[in-house]
Amino acid sequence: MKATQVLRDEHDGILAMLAIVEAAARRLREGKPVPPDLMTNAVGFFRNFADRCHHGKEEGELFPALVARGIPKEGGPIGVMLAEHDEGRAFVRGMGEAAARYAAGETAAVPALVSNTLGYVNLLRAHIDKENNVLFEMADGVLSDSEQSQLFDAFERIEQTRIGPGEHERYHAMIGEYQKIAAEW
Ligand SMILES: [Fe+2]
Ligand SMILES: [Fe+2]
Repeated sequence: MKATQVLRDEHDGILAMLAIVEAAARRLREGKPVPPDLMTNAVGFFRNFADRCHHGKEEGELFPALVARGIPKEGGPIGVMLAEHDEGRAFVRGMGEAAARYAAGETAAVPALVSNTLGYVNLLRAHIDKENNVLFEMADGVLSDSEQSQLFDAFERIEQTRIGPGEHERYHAMIGEYQKIAAEW
């Protein structure tokens, strides 16, 4: 499998969780409750899986490999991707603070929870779209088969050290559970 395909598959997991929190945010906006653990666990998923693991693979391995192949770091698509990762971190921080307050019973946290969640959903969907359709296409054009397989191995190491064995499966199971809840809304 190509290294870029690993990242595309991870995008599918992230998009599934984005759809769940988007539905939760809309429900909260209508004044209806959502399970507090859903939002706090989603924040944990976005921090660990989406940021530490997935963005870690992009920032630590893929982007430097592309820069080495002559794609500029500043000004071009890589610079845009890096800036968007930072914007995403700010939304997740806001979401995390609001989700903790909501879980503690503070309904005053709902507007901040809704706005940070929907802001993150919009940002990350557009971001993933650009990576899948622009940056990864460029990557597949410039990286040799051996560079793709070196990246694949580097991704495996990040996987083991940053989130550890079994965590991927745990997240998939969690997404499945929350999809069932969201399907009832
Ligand atoms: Fe990214
Ligand atoms: Fe990505």
